[in-house]
Amino acid sequence: MRLRQLGAMNLSVSPIGIGLAALGRPGYINLGHADDLERIYDVAAMEARAHRVLDAAYQGGVRYFDAARSYGRGEAFLGSWLASRGLAPGDVTVGSKWGYVYTADWQVTAELHEVKEHSLEVLQRQWGESQALLGAHLDLYQIHSATLESGVLTNTAVLDELARLKSTGVAIGLTVSGPRQAAVIEQALETRIDGEPLFACVQATWNLLERSAGVAMARAHAAGMGVIVKEVLANGCLTERNAAPDFADKMAALHAEAARLETTIDGLALAGVLAQPWASVVLSGAARIEHLVSNLQALDVAWDAEADAKLAHLAESAEAYWSRRSDLRWN
Ligand SMILES: NC(=O)c1ccc[n+]([C@@H]2O[C@H](COP(=O)([O-])OP(=O)(O)OC[C@H]3O[C@@H](n4cnc5c(N)ncnc54)[C@H](OP(=O)(O)O)[C@@H]3O)[C@@H](O)[C@H]2O)c1
Repeated sequence: MRLRQLGAMNLSVSPIGIGLAALGRPGYINLGHADDLERIYDVAAMEARAHRVLDAAYQGGVRYFDAARSYGRGEAFLGSWLASRGLAPGDVTVGSKWGYVYTADWQVTAELHEVKEHSLEVLQRQWGESQALLGAHLDLYQIHSATLESGVLTNTAVLDELARLKSTGVAIGLTVSGPRQAAVIEQALETRIDGEPLFACVQATWNLLERSAGVAMARAHAAGMGVIVKEVLANGCLTERNAAPDFADKMAALHAEAARLETTIDGLALAGVLAQPWASVVLSGAARIEHLVSNLQALDVAWDAEADAKLAHLAESAEAYWSRRSDLRWN
């Protein structure tokens, strides 16, 4: 994969990156997650699985790795992989996130899997924890799922602390979620400390079903921010796995275009995101090597105007998308 610069930062990334949301903890919302992990939750076994998938990603040319404090042992697995493979800071680009606290205690089912708290106390504590696990490898530190409601973008104590971290050389970013991603991105674009833009990178959900943040992501890119795209397979809904009867018509359209472009459903869905000129990195969330390899084939798909036209009707309202996502079962 040809590397590119992440926004205006001196960080090089691959067009496809990998995220550890499904690799770092027993429970997650992706369709079929329990099957993916073969219901083997022994810590050493899950670490070995994560390392095998990370090896396959590295061999496939992936050079951006995305973790978070709330992904259970995701940062620890990534840290031990970097060390055991002899990778030095700068050999790959590493991003992580603060603001969600993992509360599932290594269980698949839990009353609460993660608790969001965008406070100064959590930032300082989690920065220390991320540093201990990733050290000098940690290039990008992102607010996890910033929303207008969390108030983090008007919390001056937090913003000042982020500016202090930025002055130590780590790039500062944010991830957004929910039906109002675009409004949060717009507010982030206006967020300055001492006249300087604070945020160098935004991570947002964009896929063939949820396109509402596209204009704001393009504005962020034009303003020199890095743009990382997450949930590009809609947590598995844009894969062969989605047998939901009310999705059958859309699945038929996906199949027809995948056949025409000689690819798979996930390859097609990923290619549709790679085709967005403002996408710096498109994240694979694969927890199985064969899924990762299938995802990487999206690089060879010749997405075109016909695919754009034939699949435009898949787009749904942000409210509908996020309401269905919130019904996805942790498994
Ligand atoms: N708020 C945030 O900041 C936030 C939120 C969500 C995600 N993210 C980031 O984005 C990354 C990716 O997102 P995501 O994992 O949530 O969702 P996603 O990429 O939309 O979906 C991944 C799911 O699709 C499945 N899949 C992939 N290729 C497949 C194939 N060929 N056939 C069948 N199934 C296939 C995967 O199954 P397998 O697991 O079996 O491979 C996995 O269940 C995360 O790891 C994380 O780094 C960030």
